[in-house]
Amino acid sequence: MAFPITRLRRLRQNPVLRAMVTETKVTTDDLIMPLFACPGTNIKNPIPSMPGNYQMSIDLIVEECKELFDLGIKSVLLFGIPETKDDTGIIAAHEHAIIPKTIRAIKKHVPQMYVIADVCNCEYTTHGHCGTIVDGDVDNDLTLDTLAAQSISFVKAGVDMIAPSDMMDGRVAKIRKALDDNNFTNTPIMAYSAKYSSAFYGPFRDAAESAPQFGDRQSYQMNPANSDEAMREIDLDIIEGADIVMVKPALSYLDVIRRAKDMFNIPMAAYNVSGEFSMVKAAAEKGWIDEKRIVNEILTSIKRAGADIIITYHAKDFAKWSK
Ligand code: PBG
Repeated sequence: MAFPITRLRRLRQNPVLRAMVTETKVTTDDLIMPLFACPGTNIKNPIPSMPGNYQMSIDLIVEECKELFDLGIKSVLLFGIPETKDDTGIIAAHEHAIIPKTIRAIKKHVPQMYVIADVCNCEYTTHGHCGTIVDGDVDNDLTLDTLAAQSISFVKAGVDMIAPSDMMDGRVAKIRKALDDNNFTNTPIMAYSAKYSSAFYGPFRDAAESAPQFGDRQSYQMNPANSDEAMREIDLDIIEGADIVMVKPALSYLDVIRRAKDMFNIPMAAYNVSGEFSMVKAAAEKGWIDEKRIVNEILTSIKRAGADIIITYHAKDFAKWSK
């Protein structure tokens, strides 16, 4: 039936009706807030390119988690800024390293908070690459050992979920086996499956002090031009045992999210990354955009594309606006 019988504007006339026929609604249940833990006490260093985000010492991370939980943000993704770095990143796996300590503190004081740990070496290596360097490039198989060691250390500290972001081949299988061998059969893995080599990570690398000291990450992160390859990455991670697969960044890759959602029957996450956040904040500070409406529209678009879960630095603001 076409015009004049059919008029799509009919369903747009009344706000109650508009709400009833809304297809996609983002809620705080969908969101994960990333946090950056650093050594010391009572430390809250602003991250200049990411207004409202801080490197926080563990005592303040705990306070932040209480606040987030009360606002309805019930999950956080942890990144660590260590006191010292090494060649391989194995220091991250020490029992008293920054992330295990942070996990234990959150679980002690805010036990209901669902704690996810990013697993990668770039914050912990002197060279800033995501793994062990051999002949000027990251060695895949050697890196798997440090990733598994980190994962075991984090689950022993009480983390709820492991999220490997390194892009080594075979890391999901390696981590799954390590978890199972240690009786953590119920700990899920959220794999950064299609993680692109992206300029949108710029502000994060300041926040996590993880910029590569030579070269770039193109030998392990994906070429932004490729979507078929993303499906292969996701397929392999599912075969290796991933419980949730992720596309990252989100906004320039909404097509990849949708394609994966149509192709695979598995929960999907999208990472609304630092550069995407910073652009919104900068334009809002200049008064060029309406921040609240833009954030709502962005998060809605990511969910509409097919993401069940959104990792976003907007989570806290969104929760405040939703109150
Ligand atoms: C670590 C990691 C990165 C991000 C998440 N985990 C940076 C990178 O790969 O360089 C980026 C997150 C963001 O930009 O918000 N491997």
